[in-house]
Amino acid sequence: GFVYLADYTAPAWRIPQVELQFELAAEATEVVSRLQLVPDPAQGGEALVLDGVDLELLAIAVDGVALAADRYRYDGRQLQVPGLDRACVLETRVRIRPAANTRLEGLYRSGRLLLTQCEAEGFRRISFMADRPDVMPRWRIVLRAARTDYPVLLANGNPLGTADLGGGQHEATWENPHPTPAYLFAIAAGPLERVTQTLDTAEGRRVELNIWAEAADVARCAYALGAVERALRWDERRFGRGYDLDVFNVVAAQDFTMGAMENKGLNIFNARYILADEATATDADFLAIESVVAHEYLHNWSGNRVTLRDWFQLSLKEGLTVFRDTEFSSDLHSRALKRIEVVRLLRGRQFAEDAGALAHAVRPDRYREISNFYTLTIYEKGAEIVRVLHTLVGDTAFRAGMDRYFADNDGRAATLEEFLAAHQAASGRDLSQFARWYSQAGTPELRIREHYDAASGDYTLTVDQHTPPTPGQAQKQPLLIPLRFALYGADGAPVTTPPDTGAAQAPGLVELTRARHVLRWTGLTDRPLPAFNQAFAAPVKLDLDYAADDLARLARLERDPFNRWDLLQRLATGALLGTLDAESATSALSDALADLLDDDAADPAFVAECLALPDFDTLAEAVDVVEVESLVARRESLVERLAEDHVERLERRYHALAATARQGLSGAAMSARALRNACLAWLTRLDPQAALAQAQFAAGGMMTERLAALRCLLHFDAPDAAAALQSFRDAFAHDPLVTDKWIGLVATRPHPDSRDAVLALLASPWWKATNPNRVRALLGSFARGNALGFHRRDGGGYRLLAEQILGLDALNPQVAARLLGSFESWRRLAQPQRGAARAALESLQGGLVSPDSRDLLQRLLED
Ligand code: ARG
Ligand code: ZN
Repeated sequence: GFVYLADYTAPAWRIPQVELQFELAAEATEVVSRLQLVPDPAQGGEALVLDGVDLELLAIAVDGVALAADRYRYDGRQLQVPGLDRACVLETRVRIRPAANTRLEGLYRSGRLLLTQCEAEGFRRISFMADRPDVMPRWRIVLRAARTDYPVLLANGNPLGTADLGGGQHEATWENPHPTPAYLFAIAAGPLERVTQTLDTAEGRRVELNIWAEAADVARCAYALGAVERALRWDERRFGRGYDLDVFNVVAAQDFTMGAMENKGLNIFNARYILADEATATDADFLAIESVVAHEYLHNWSGNRVTLRDWFQLSLKEGLTVFRDTEFSSDLHSRALKRIEVVRLLRGRQFAEDAGALAHAVRPDRYREISNFYTLTIYEKGAEIVRVLHTLVGDTAFRAGMDRYFADNDGRAATLEEFLAAHQAASGRDLSQFARWYSQAGTPELRIREHYDAASGDYTLTVDQHTPPTPGQAQKQPLLIPLRFALYGADGAPVTTPPDTGAAQAPGLVELTRARHVLRWTGLTDRPLPAFNQAFAAPVKLDLDYAADDLARLARLERDPFNRWDLLQRLATGALLGTLDAESATSALSDALADLLDDDAADPAFVAECLALPDFDTLAEAVDVVEVESLVARRESLVERLAEDHVERLERRYHALAATARQGLSGAAMSARALRNACLAWLTRLDPQAALAQAQFAAGGMMTERLAALRCLLHFDAPDAAAALQSFRDAFAHDPLVTDKWIGLVATRPHPDSRDAVLALLASPWWKATNPNRVRALLGSFARGNALGFHRRDGGGYRLLAEQILGLDALNPQVAARLLGSFESWRRLAQPQRGAARAALESLQGGLVSPDSRDLLQRLLED
């Protein structure tokens, strides 16, 4: 059944304090819990009901007196203790089985470690609790275990001390003094080693930062440790937020369903977002590590100190924290490149989600399974909405609004209304229309048409906004959209006169509130050329009717670097989808790329972004009916044509940047490698011998270079591809994260027969169905990154995925449900794919066991 936002009621019992005692062992762990329970008289004396899933209940007592069997009821999901009406202490002892836990939710084993993952509803698999984010106890946690197996024992909060218990057993006690909901609970135990650093916060607190990993991995934790420090300092500077415990611990785990988790004082990470050195991690990995480390650290304020009233508010912490980590990365590196990265993700994935069967509001009003709502919409669109707010109120008022939000809600479980109320109070702006961004699903489209009357000099821009219907939301209302614009005159200079009508709020910014706005200028002596949505200030689609030449000219005039990139993307998209005259768009794009490749002063990474045409997902999202093969083929032939146009330029840049590319992890070196690898891919496409890629691969060097070369060899079917793969595989056979990389390359080889290679890997010792990273590397890459393989005309790609989902569903429901999401756009596929996708989905009916996958399947097939 559904949970509804409208049904929220405050907890009937408060739990001010929890004491937990663990006797840890992989096969069976016993957990003693003492919950201080206080009935809330305002909630009218409801019976005590606690969550607890699949717990083996060994003992239960109230205020030290064991309960007779008829005094409580436990059905494997909930514990009911009727007849309690005053404050008391409930003590339970349960047994759980970490080694048998393949869901990786609750307490589980990963290699020699014992770890937890509780968000959203995993704590109930560890012990009894009101497992909801608005119940926020203080915690005391005692961990006991055999010292040889589990020499390090970590939990939330500050360490209170350790003791030897004799007989090879030891214990550690932790105290988390901040009110913290159960989803932020964590422990980690095992043979962990660390890198460590001590710093003094701006408020004068001495904090020990530790990154923990197994011995073989600890040498690759230094970069992540630096990232923690950078995030901490940045939050002090930019948001005035300090750190609030004596330690900040981070643990790297090889088996982890998601990216990472912000548990109070004890973040637990997927190892791929911690471990890095130049030999095993790519430049993109380093940047992702820094950004995820920052994300989890920044949650300490946006999520932990101020938490959520209920899971409908998920974007209150996730969208806000993505906004914060994106600002962090933008302040530290190139703002324009970060914006390009984010917009690629939005267009390729979030827009598709918002247009597909699984579309939902950033604040949904109902769910069957909350795990299915950790989506691009909640995270990325949620962050975009915060960015829209920032644009509307400006940086100073935004910071004041954030200060107020943190001050008013510290130690509380908040709602989006409270977030908006703080910003409304600080900015003095009415945010009621803005709030529609949270409740309305679908990507808004702005259709802009211009009219110029040469005789009178009148110039108008008519802007119509429209949001298409989404499942369960047929009618949409106008949103408050800040539209940035710039007009360029015939002389190429910006026109600075504001429009006479149309309520421009600030220079170059108009706030759209209605279905239609008309901006009017008078007395313009020539037709200007307008550019819109600089820095992608609003997460919308633009429908413009420019000719290719106008786009090309604008790409040269536009001051905003994001838009310069975007105008070239638009030229490419127009050429590929036939919305522009193909030959003039292609030659305009080619000329622009020539200028960029000749411009040694431009940031090479920016040039590389301009060479990278819109990906398959982005193109597929922009058409009504997806003809997979023809879309891929058109894209391939455009790249080939452009590569042929510029062979000498590509070779020149490739060689000229070689020296800079060798300068380690400096920004200049990363940029140089980005452009070199872009050039390499285009040049390899034209060279059946793949000589350059072969040479780059043979030179060894950094992972960024080796992997890019290997990708070229494998994806262009170079003569040496098999031998190169073999040597790469052998060189890193002991390293699961690097193994995931070559598996990802095999799974994304752009050819229908790549399905056979995926099948071969599934039957090989490389396949590990219980390891989420391996599943994503093989099946996730195949489904999301291999259009020709996944969308085979005979449906073989869909069947492969459906069969694997069926098996994974019984092991790890969240991983299975993620894969099932790859079918989100199946209804827009042309035949025969559409029918084949439907058949694959229907084959799953009756076979799926988890609520996660069943919820998704139902939504995917609903009409
Ligand atoms: N809060 C975590 C983060 O974004 C993600 C937790 C994901 N959990 C889940 N059940 N999907 O940093
Ligand atoms: Zn998060």
